[in-house]
Amino acid sequence: MNKKIIIANWKLNGSIQLLQNLLKPISDFVKMNHISSKVIIAPPSVYLNQAYNIVLNTNVIIGAQNVDVNSFGAFTGEISVNMLKDINIRYVIVGHSERRLHHQENNILIAKKFEVVKHAKLIPILCIGETDKDYNLYTTQRVCQKQIDIIFDLLGETAFCNTIIAYEPIWAIGSKKIPSLNYIQDMCCFIKDYILKQQNINKKSFFIQYGGSVNENNIQQLCKIPDVDGFLIGSVSLSLNKFLKILKTISIDK
Ligand code: PGA
Repeated sequence: MNKKIIIANWKLNGSIQLLQNLLKPISDFVKMNHISSKVIIAPPSVYLNQAYNIVLNTNVIIGAQNVDVNSFGAFTGEISVNMLKDINIRYVIVGHSERRLHHQENNILIAKKFEVVKHAKLIPILCIGETDKDYNLYTTQRVCQKQIDIIFDLLGETAFCNTIIAYEPIWAIGSKKIPSLNYIQDMCCFIKDYILKQQNINKKSFFIQYGGSVNENNIQQLCKIPDVDGFLIGSVSLSLNKFLKILKTISIDK
């Protein structure tokens, strides 16, 4: 798959001003330069609708950072898949490590969210990855396997059809440290083979991204990793210049 998928996770950052100063020029850039990579921007949920209207008639797609497992009712503060569908949002990040850490989301809850998103015929972007402790103990594969298995247990062998998996070593997120290119390739290849084996079909119908301290300087090297289909980008996606440099590099690299 040579068309990369780039996802910008704005996290808890954004404003109406930022939609104009960042999202608008990104969507203009993608339109004018015929960028063929899929560019998905995930702003905080209060801005989804406005963001959607800004990128209308461009190839930029708006995604959500999170969703609740419940569809409606007495769940103060939550948003549902139906609400996302109502405002034409198709992609949803599920299980980001910051949700796991700060909002006590465990593998079971994340698997349920993944299920709700898939049942609504939306596309989940599942984040998996190891802590620095796991990394130092060489248990990364086991940790990722567990994060994947729980989803197969709930959804069966077609669980990952038409989905995105973002492999993000937690210790690389926001730390300006990235693993070696070989390590990223080995992990993405491991995840791909592991899912294909459980799926019982050879056709790869999912995408694997790398996330964690991706920036305008390392993107060229990262693009060369064969089993990486795209990138999940946090802090650097908030800088217009740096993010456009990434988009340029990716489109030249194809
Ligand atoms: P970062 O974040 O690019 O700032 O490391 C990545 C992420 O949290 O997905």
